[in-house]
Amino acid sequence: MTKASYIEPVDGATYSLDIPRWCSDDRKPLLITAQKGISRDDIVTNDRSLWRYRAGLPVEIKAPISMGEGCTPLVQRPWGDHRPFFKLEWFNPTGSFKDRGTTVMLSYLRQVGIDAVLEDSSGNGGSSIAGYGAAGGIRVKILAPAYTSPAKIAQVHAYGAEIQLVEGPREESEAEAIRQSKTTFYASHNWQPFFLEGTKTQAYELWEDFGFKAPDNIIISVGAGSSLLGCYWIQGVAFSSADRSPAEVLRRSAIQLLTHRRQLSGRG
Ligand SMILES: Cc1ncc(COP(=O)(O)O)c(C=O)c1O
Repeated sequence: MTKASYIEPVDGATYSLDIPRWCSDDRKPLLITAQKGISRDDIVTNDRSLWRYRAGLPVEIKAPISMGEGCTPLVQRPWGDHRPFFKLEWFNPTGSFKDRGTTVMLSYLRQVGIDAVLEDSSGNGGSSIAGYGAAGGIRVKILAPAYTSPAKIAQVHAYGAEIQLVEGPREESEAEAIRQSKTTFYASHNWQPFFLEGTKTQAYELWEDFGFKAPDNIIISVGAGSSLLGCYWIQGVAFSSADRSPAEVLRRSAIQLLTHRRQLSGRG
């Protein structure tokens, strides 16, 4: 397998992972080139955090910024006529699944020399980056819509991050972050590809929880789609051994989502 790099999937341009970036030269979303995935023997079983799947990352992270994220409870409960399993992601350190993406993204960024970041968020993403920034000694500034819930603003403040409220719709906070990215690295949970390297551990975890088999179906909440894309990237690895796999649904949804992200990135 060749060395991993950033890739702009439409024009095929690649960029070294040694130099941190959040978009291509012409400001399109990036991915990371395909990786081989992991087998059950690669799991670091004495690490009770998502870093047990570190062998699946595209680069070796020597010093993770970790607060014990991942390995969240999986409980079966009745829901109408069904008995689905619920993955209790609010048990993550700052209270959401975003910690999966953040721990990997900020650990990588710190390793390649980034000591201050920007993020735009109206909720859990901002809190997560503020929390992990504090844990890892990275300065954090959050651009948040003026309508953001006071509880989320308080959480960001509690972690010691700077917060700037931006008038207008949610997109204006992203536009402001992109303007400020000329001076501070834009560690966007929607743009920086290492975030998905962390969210894909949700799928590794389900695979392990279910005895190294894929569940029949997965219901995932989707905004910009980081959980869905994370699960999609590894479906060929973790889910390939399943008799019936959610792979095709994931594939179609992921392609729609990537197309949509690309269209949005062209709006200016
Ligand atoms: C609890 C929770 N679920 C789902 C989402 C949607 O995540 P994404 O935008 O990555 O699809 C968010 C994002 O803010 C969230 O906080």
